[in-house]
Amino acid sequence: MLTYVLLSEESLAKVKPLLSNERSFLEELYLALATEPVLEIQEEALELLRQNLSFWRRGYAIPLRALEELERLSGEELELDCEAMLGSEELEAEPDASYAFAREFCARVEGERVLDIASGFGWVPVLLSQRAQVYALDSAYENPIVYGEDRIYIAGTTIELFPGFAEGQAFIRANRERFTCYADFARLFWERHGARLENITLLQGDASELKSVRCLGEGALPESFDSVTIFFGLNHVGKAWRRVLREASRVLRERGRLHVALYREYLARFPLKGAYDWAEQLGIEVIPLEELLKEAESLDLRARLVRGHRGEALYHMVVMEKRE
Ligand SMILES: C[S@@+](CC[C@H](N)C(=O)[O-])C[C@H]1O[C@@H](n2cnc3c(N)ncnc32)[C@H](O)[C@@H]1O
Repeated sequence: MLTYVLLSEESLAKVKPLLSNERSFLEELYLALATEPVLEIQEEALELLRQNLSFWRRGYAIPLRALEELERLSGEELELDCEAMLGSEELEAEPDASYAFAREFCARVEGERVLDIASGFGWVPVLLSQRAQVYALDSAYENPIVYGEDRIYIAGTTIELFPGFAEGQAFIRANRERFTCYADFARLFWERHGARLENITLLQGDASELKSVRCLGEGALPESFDSVTIFFGLNHVGKAWRRVLREASRVLRERGRLHVALYREYLARFPLKGAYDWAEQLGIEVIPLEELLKEAESLDLRARLVRGHRGEALYHMVVMEKRE
């Protein structure tokens, strides 16, 4: 397991001059970071390390082992301090895909009628449909599934279906007439994971403009909800996050609660999903907690940060109650 360290500005200033692009330095560093015996150093591996160095210089988290190596090579004690430290196991958790995190998040959600914003094919509808009517909203549910030669994805999004899971890909390809759009795939995921599909209503539309949202199939969008959930969705809706929050607050009943899971700001400077630039690749909007809390206050929502949850190092859980 690697530990990644996010250095303070002062410490980064000490480390930067030591991050050389010289080949002999890169080779030594590569060997120090290797988790398995190295017989030959490949060019691509050095290139990747070079790219990582360019992220480190820009203030991204650095493996602790690399810092130890820098100290050894420089022959002096660097005395570094850090803003945050996370292990590679924690970073592999992929918060939005974690069943354990979703379970803990949903355990706090009350009421019979819940709107889940930016639902995708996530765990929230699976868990809440056991005890509530869930309205799962996504702007891409009607987007077609594209059956490419080497990957299957949702048109107009970065969402790939069954990446690295050949059996899943084979299944959906063999049944492609049944799986033509994102909503079909979401239903498949939910059904296979034990959701009560009869309790889930799919909604197509933009969360920043709920008046334009339509039900897929029968039913209509209720006027108000007991709870609204946004499990990392605010990070996915981009610059529209304030409008989404306003809409969520508008459709919440008095004393109803809005539950939000939000990536911690510093997480965007750690490698996640295998890359340092995951936030950029996935179009993730980094939202400072302070700004979210300020916005909530302006919408007359009483916000409370949940402490001590299991994913606290990776994300914030915020519960906002609509004032009477
Ligand atoms: C990572 S995905 C799903 C997150 C989900 N809550 C989960 O638990 O996995 C984010 C989703 O947000 C949807 N989305 C992005 N912008 C949106 C918007 N303005 N309104 C509704 N959905 C949106 C995308 O189509 C995508 O399916």
